[in-house]
Amino acid sequence: MYVCICNAVREMELRETVQKGARSAEDGYAHLGIDFACAQCRDHAQFVIDDELLKSAAN
Ligand code: FES
Repeated sequence: MYVCICNAVREMELRETVQKGARSAEDGYAHLGIDFACAQCRDHAQFVIDDELLKSAAN
């Protein structure tokens, strides 16, 4: 599933950035070497990052 259409970012790619230190949508995109274009994905991208952080904390 795509999180960001403008940059063709898949949810799994974004989740993987948490293991590399991302703590926000901006961090995650920076790890992927991209930036927001339209930013319509910002809230959902942050939700994905937050969800992955919770899962990581539970493990
Ligand atoms: S959908 Fe992510 S920047 Fe446009």
